[in-house]
This record gives sequence, C-alpha cells and structure tokens, in this order.
Amino acid sequence: MKSDVYYFTGTGNSLAVAKDIAKKIEGDLIFIPYALGNGIIKTDAKVVVIIFPVYMWGIPLIIERFIKNFEDLNDKYVYAIATHGGMPGVAINILEKVIESCKGKLSAGFTINMPGNYVPKYGAFPEEKQKKLFDKCGEKVKVIAEYIKTNKQGKKENNNILVNLLFSNLIYNHSAKNIAKMDKNFWVDEKCNKCGICQKICPVCNIDMNSGNPIWNNKCEQCLACLQWCPQEAIQYGKKTPTRKRYHHPNANISDILNQAKK
Ligand SMILES: Cc1cc2nc3c(=O)[nH]c(=O)nc-3n(C[C@H](O)[C@H](O)[C@H](O)COP(=O)(O)O)c2cc1C
Ligand code: SF4
Ligand code: SF4
Repeated sequence: MKSDVYYFTGTGNSLAVAKDIAKKIEGDLIFIPYALGNGIIKTDAKVVVIIFPVYMWGIPLIIERFIKNFEDLNDKYVYAIATHGGMPGVAINILEKVIESCKGKLSAGFTINMPGNYVPKYGAFPEEKQKKLFDKCGEKVKVIAEYIKTNKQGKKENNNILVNLLFSNLIYNHSAKNIAKMDKNFWVDEKCNKCGICQKICPVCNIDMNSGNPIWNNKCEQCLACLQWCPQEAIQYGKKTPTRKRYHHPNANISDILNQAKK
C-alpha cells in the first residue's frame, strides 16, 4: 500500500524516527514545510504518517496548518508519532481533534521519548542518557512500523484525562497563541560571524539578515533549529542559554537539515 511519511523537525529527533519508519514501511519521506510550500497537499497514498516534536504539551502550529491544507484525509489511514522530551501532554489528543475537524480519522497515535531539546529550560542531556533513549526508541519504532504495515487501528497514547484537561485547556491553549512571537527572546552574541546559516536553516523563512545580523520576524515555530545549529553557538534565547550545551540528534548533520527544505 502506498505510504507517505511526513515529518517536521528542529534538531533531528523526528527526522531520525521518520527515516527509520519510512525505511521499514517503504514509504516516501517528505518534509512538511516543503509539502506546505506547494500549496494544497494532494497524494494518492493510502497511508499517511505524520511525525513531529511535542511543543508546549501540544503540537507545533505548522502541523495544524499542514493538516488543514490536505486535500482529502477522509479515505486514508492516518498515523501520528510525536517525539518528546518526557512530557507528551495532549499532543496526540490535539492532533486527533484537528484531523477530525478536517473530516479525517486518526487511526493511531504514538509518542516516543527522545532527548529534550528545549535549551531555554535545560542543556543537552548527558550522552549516556541519550543513548538509552535512542535504544528504546529503536525498539518502539519496530513495533509502530509493524502496527502501520498491518493497518491496525485504535492505539492513542495520551496522558490521563486530568493531565489532558490541565495541559490542553490551561497551558497549551494559552501558549499556542504566543508561539509565533516568542522569537522576540532570541538575541545574538559577539561570536556571530555573519555566516547566514541561521537564515537558511529556518524551516519557515522567519529570519532575515540585516547588515549581516539575523533578525526574527514573528512567524516562528520555536523549533530552535537556528539556535541549536548555529556553528558559533552565537544565538541565545533569554538569559540562561549562553552556558547551556547545544543538542542535535547524533545521526543528523547540518546538511541534512539545510537540504530537507529542497525535497
Ligand atoms: C518549543 C519547544 C517546546 C517543547 N515542549 C515540550 C513539551 O511540552 N514536552 C516535552 O516532553 N518535550 C518538549 N519539547 C522537547 C521536544 O519535543 C523533543 O526534544 C523533540 O524530540 C524534538 O524533536 P526534533 O529534534 O525533531 O525537533 C519542546 C521543545 C521545544 C523546542
Ligand atoms: S548562524 Fe550563527 S554565526 Fe551564522 S549568522 Fe546566524 S547567528 Fe551568526
Ligand atoms: S526562527 Fe529559529 S526557532 Fe523560529 S522557526 Fe525559524 S529556525 Fe525555528
């Protein structure tokens, strides 16, 4: 059965999962910002897999736009995988509601615990801890791939109902409104050599260069790709990031992230 594997990523965790799933189910790998750049999304694939990071216990804003731009989800098996840093909150639940509002049905939704990348709150996890998470991830991806290949349905991995209510109503709904403008907290320190990589790496073209200095334009997804991949570690967010260790998935490199926007 023809399968499309759509993904969004900032630091490579969701990319690593997407590559592994695409290989195992023999699906086509498609970067969501690229698919969105072509307008309405049409596909004759019967299976659609959507892989993305959890943001603020919910889904990245771009995932909602992506689903709303799909021509017809109604006759497809739709699977979701949310990678997260330990608290997936209501990501699958929120995604399911968006899919249903577009007359689709979520066949199953999974969460995978990966190293967190939210450097405004913490630096990169120790390598040993990362390795344990990658090992577990590998095992879980095998199970999910089998589930998708056999078109099984029903599994929805969410936190319990009380946690859902708290995170969805109080926290996610409040945070989601502010995400695009949270880039006001980025700033650049003296290490910046004006290479322009941050501008090229932003998946939603939110960065312009002004006399060689990056400026952010308030349509941010908060993926942190600009900050995490700056070769000089010159991009900071708020007060605490100058001393925090940067993170990206060990199998992702800067060319993977730069080139995905072209395919
Ligand atoms: C803006 C932002 C918000 C995040 N919020 C959460 C969260 O609520 N819960 C969680 O477990 N991880 C959270 N994370 C961590 C990511 O979900 C996790 O590291 C993910 O695997 C990163 O995927 P990527 O490497 O494909 O970008 C957040 C990360 C970012 C950048
Ligand atoms: S990637 Fe880093 S060093 Fe290069 S222009 Fe952007 S902030 Fe400056
Ligand atoms: S400005 Fe930075 S954090 Fe915002 S979407 Fe672009 S790369 Fe991601």
